[in-house]
Amino acid sequence: MTDLSSLEEFNRYYSTGGNPPVTRSLLDFFRTCVKERMPEKARILELGSGTRSLFEEVSLPRERVTAIDFSSVAIERARALGSPIEYKNLDITFPDALEGEKFDVIFDSHCLHCIDNRAARVSAFKNIHDALSEEGIFCAEMMVQPAHNSVSFPMKFIPTARELEEEILKHDFQIIYFMIGRGLSFENGNQECDLLRVIAKRKTSA
Ligand SMILES: C[S@@+](CC[C@H](N)C(=O)[O-])C[C@H]1O[C@@H](n2cnc3c(N)ncnc32)[C@H](O)[C@@H]1O
Repeated sequence: MTDLSSLEEFNRYYSTGGNPPVTRSLLDFFRTCVKERMPEKARILELGSGTRSLFEEVSLPRERVTAIDFSSVAIERARALGSPIEYKNLDITFPDALEGEKFDVIFDSHCLHCIDNRAARVSAFKNIHDALSEEGIFCAEMMVQPAHNSVSFPMKFIPTARELEEEILKHDFQIIYFMIGRGLSFENGNQECDLLRVIAKRKTSA
């Protein structure tokens, strides 16, 4: 389901020494919005960890963290850190990618906005939904269109905030936090998009 050119692109980036710095906005999102909503002893899944999980920087028991990335090169480099975090080479868009595992927090580290194929996104959202524990939270910071402009970046999915809201609701989630990041944007050349932070739970039947 994955767009192979995207996987090749990321593998090329990581095998030529690409080393994304810790994404400050993700750390800030985790510290200011997610941490206080997490149950104690939460099992955490990070999507798109690259060569180093965000949770290497956060003070919590790292043995409860699983970090996945579809780039085998990135995961090999991450494993070489020798950290207690479990690094797995997985594509979140593959049917049943998480094989029945459950997590209390699923944290998207800027992976989902790299998935621009509609069918692949449906599959990713299904995997996320199925892998959330009953009270679990799905947390994401994703690119959205700026209010008065329309932008497109190569290999990035950039819906409007409303379209993103609809996409999440359609996959049987209830949204508990939805905010365009204060002063946050993402630049590509001379174009800029907004970053939206969302936290959602599985919808419970009435
Ligand atoms: C924009 S990078 C973010 C990397 C890192 N988390 C950061 O914040 O700098 C997106 C990451 O998601 C991974 N990725 C993209 N599509 C994926 C998929 N379908 N399944 C798993 N990982 C994916 C890429 O290999 C890449 O490491």
